[in-house]
Amino acid sequence: MEYIAAHLQMDLALAWAIRLQGKTDQEKFKDLGWGLRTWDQWYFNECDDRFGDDWPGRIPAQLIAHTLYYFTKPGDQVLDPMAGGGVVPDTCLVFERRCQAFDLAVRDKRPEIEHHHWDPQNDPWPVTRKPDLIFFDPPYYTKKQKAYEQTHKTRHHPGVSQCGLA
Ligand SMILES: C[S@@+](CC[C@H](N)C(=O)[O-])C[C@H]1O[C@@H](n2cnc3c(N)ncnc32)[C@H](O)[C@@H]1O
Repeated sequence: MEYIAAHLQMDLALAWAIRLQGKTDQEKFKDLGWGLRTWDQWYFNECDDRFGDDWPGRIPAQLIAHTLYYFTKPGDQVLDPMAGGGVVPDTCLVFERRCQAFDLAVRDKRPEIEHHHWDPQNDPWPVTRKPDLIFFDPPYYTKKQKAYEQTHKTRHHPGVSQCGLA
């Protein structure tokens, strides 16, 4: 799959999405090599590099896939207001859920992640369709404060350190 994606100059997640299009969720779990966990406490040792970019606080695609499997159906609308490395839109693509994603970081290579600096005091998210599920993965504030401040300075957006989402 890596060879095919590179050859066709597409993201690996998109290549997988095309390959698995039309299959059931359970078939997709099987083809991706993920065991479907039927209990309700999940622990995943590693992020699957096929989905999402390396990013501070990145979460495993397997966690996203399980949440989608148990709490949504294909075609449902998902919102990720702090999408970071993009694992939620990638997994939604493969599992055929619609997704609207935002982040204050400008993601030049990920146009599906819209630039939006959410202000929890008075700013709604600019969604165009009511979501069926929201993944809310805010910064691990004290742990990653410096990294987010640095990202913010690099991008010339003053005030990220005050976003107050601890
Ligand atoms: C824990 S990370 C998300 C990681 C993501 N779930 C992943 O797996 O890659 C939190 C994200 O929130 C973003 N963020 C922080 N404050 C924000 C704000 N006020 N509005 C929008 N995005 C924000 C950061 O840029 C960062 O990418």
